[in-house]
Amino acid sequence: MKTILVTGANRGIGLEICRQLSKTGHTVILCSADIVKGKTAAAGLGDNVHVRQLDITDNNSINNLYNSVLSDFGAIDVLINNAGKGEIESSGKRSLLSKTKSMVFKRIPYIKNLAKSLSPLLKKSGIIPKDHGAADVSIDRAMTIMNTNMFGAWRMIQKFVPLMIKSEDPRIINISSGMGQFRNLTGYYPAYSLSKASLNALTIMFANELKDKGFKVNAMCPGWVRSDMGGPDALRSLAEGADTAVWLATFKEIPTGKFFKDKKETEW
Ligand SMILES: NC(=O)c1ccc[n+]([C@@H]2O[C@H](COP(=O)([O-])OP(=O)(O)OC[C@H]3O[C@@H](n4cnc5c(N)ncnc54)[C@H](OP(=O)(O)O)[C@@H]3O)[C@@H](O)[C@H]2O)c1
Repeated sequence: MKTILVTGANRGIGLEICRQLSKTGHTVILCSADIVKGKTAAAGLGDNVHVRQLDITDNNSINNLYNSVLSDFGAIDVLINNAGKGEIESSGKRSLLSKTKSMVFKRIPYIKNLAKSLSPLLKKSGIIPKDHGAADVSIDRAMTIMNTNMFGAWRMIQKFVPLMIKSEDPRIINISSGMGQFRNLTGYYPAYSLSKASLNALTIMFANELKDKGFKVNAMCPGWVRSDMGGPDALRSLAEGADTAVWLATFKEIPTGKFFKDKKETEW
C-alpha cells in the first residue's frame, strides 16, 4: 500500500481522487487550504484518510505540511498536484457559456474549434468577459493563476522530492488540462491555458531531471468535469475525472514524462 498526498482535495476532483484511493486501502493525505473544510470533506472516508492544511501559494504552509508529513508518515510515495484555479469565477455569464459549450460538445464535437473562433463575437455579446483574450487579460489575474497552477505544483515538487526518494516507486502526477495543449493555445481562457501549458513543461522537466532517481512524473487531463470549476453542464462525473489520476498513482507499470487522458497517452 502507498502513501499518497493530494493537494486541493476538500472538494471536486481532488476529493474524489481521495475517495477512490481510500477505498482501495492506501494511506491518503487529504490537503485543504481550509482545514475545517478539509475535515468536513473527509468525514466518512475512512481512518486511512488524514487531513492536513495546505495552501500551495504559501511557503510557510508548505513547510508546516512537510514537517507534519515527515513526523507522521516518514515519506510519501505519490504526490498528486491537483489544486488549481480557473480563469473566471462562477457567474451567470459563465453558466450560459457552459450551457452553450455543453450543447455543442454533446451534439457536434467538431464544432468545438468553431466555438473558439467565435470567441470575439461571444466577447462582444458579453457571454465571455471582454478582458478575456491574451491581448487584454489582466496580467495580475494571470499571475495569480500561474502562481497557483504552475508555481504551486513546482513548490510542492521541490519540497517533497527529498521525502519521496525514500519510496521504492516515487510518482508525481500533475492534474493539467487539454486547454494547456499546444494546439489549444488560441487565446481562449489565456491565463488558465498558459498555466497548464507551463505545468506540462514542468512535468517534462522533472521527468527528465528525476529519471535517474526512479521517479515517474506525468501530467493528465481529467476532461470537462462537473465540479465547481467545470460547472453543472460539464460532460463528465467526478468519478470519471478522477479515474486516470488514480490509475497513474496505483497501476503497476507506468511510463514517465507523458501526458494522459482516459488512461491513454495524448499529445502535449
Ligand atoms: N473541472 C474540470 O472540468 C477540469 C478540467 C481540466 C482540468 N481540471 C483541473 O483539475 C483540478 C481540480 O479541479 P476541480 O474541477 O476539482 O476544481 P474545483 O472544484 O474548483 O476545486 C479546486 C480545488 O483547488 C483548491 N485550491 C485552489 N487554490 C489553492 C491553493 N492556493 N492552495 C490549496 N488549494 C487550492 C480549492 O480549494 P478551496 O476550496 O479552498 O478554494 C479546491 O479544493 C484543477 O487543477 C483543474 O485545473 C479541471
